[in-house]
Amino acid sequence: MIRKKICVANWKMNKNFVESNDFLKKITQKDLSPNSCELVICPSYDSLFLFDRFNSQLSFGAQDVSYLNNPSLTGEISVDMLTSHNCKYVIIGHSERRELLNETNESVSLKMKEVYNSEMIPILCIGETLDEKLAKLTDEILDKQIKKAFSKIDFKSQKDILIAYEPVWAIGTGQAAGYNEIKQNMKLIKKIINNIYTNNCNIYLLYGGSVNENNASQIINIDNVDGFLIGSASLKVDSFYKIFKQL
Ligand code: 13P
Repeated sequence: MIRKKICVANWKMNKNFVESNDFLKKITQKDLSPNSCELVICPSYDSLFLFDRFNSQLSFGAQDVSYLNNPSLTGEISVDMLTSHNCKYVIIGHSERRELLNETNESVSLKMKEVYNSEMIPILCIGETLDEKLAKLTDEILDKQIKKAFSKIDFKSQKDILIAYEPVWAIGTGQAAGYNEIKQNMKLIKKIINNIYTNNCNIYLLYGGSVNENNASQIINIDNVDGFLIGSASLKVDSFYKIFKQL
């Protein structure tokens, strides 16, 4: 059986619902016929209602979720709200949230548990900063981020889990990690996962950080890379579509 590829757009805080709707209309007019690659769009919350409109052709994800189910939590969004909009995936622990919004390995582990226990699939983001890379701490950081993220899950059922390796220094810089570096770190991530009991969950590894139409085909051919998590290059229909076609 061919293992599917997954191409995820993380629109971050770009695009209001009019712009999101326009993008989705344009991309769904293109040939998205099954090429064993799942196309996933993660817009901001104001476009949640568009999920229902387009979800026969695309999959959707949210960029975050609350780990609490307490209705008295101003500004948060619950697992239940996302599920009711046919949201299939949730990004958890993106480095921008870790750096700027106090996301910690502990809160990531609580969100991972909530999403695992729901119908949705988590996209766990991990990655080292430039200082950590220069201090040769990458292995240690990835090990800690993954083990902590999985630590609260009671692996009762087998489901898909996505892990996006996004070196922080490669995000939004135009400078993707090199071939050998991605290969080595994907191998390491695989090894860390293999030493954790996951009840044979289907774990997919994505690469993120300055993926574009020029480097996509080289990166997708690296061992253990099942797809991408894409920021800037996912904002334009043509560049995102060109990447999708290479998977
Ligand atoms: P860029 O593709 O813009 O580097 O962003 C990557 C990212 O943060 C996806 O989550």
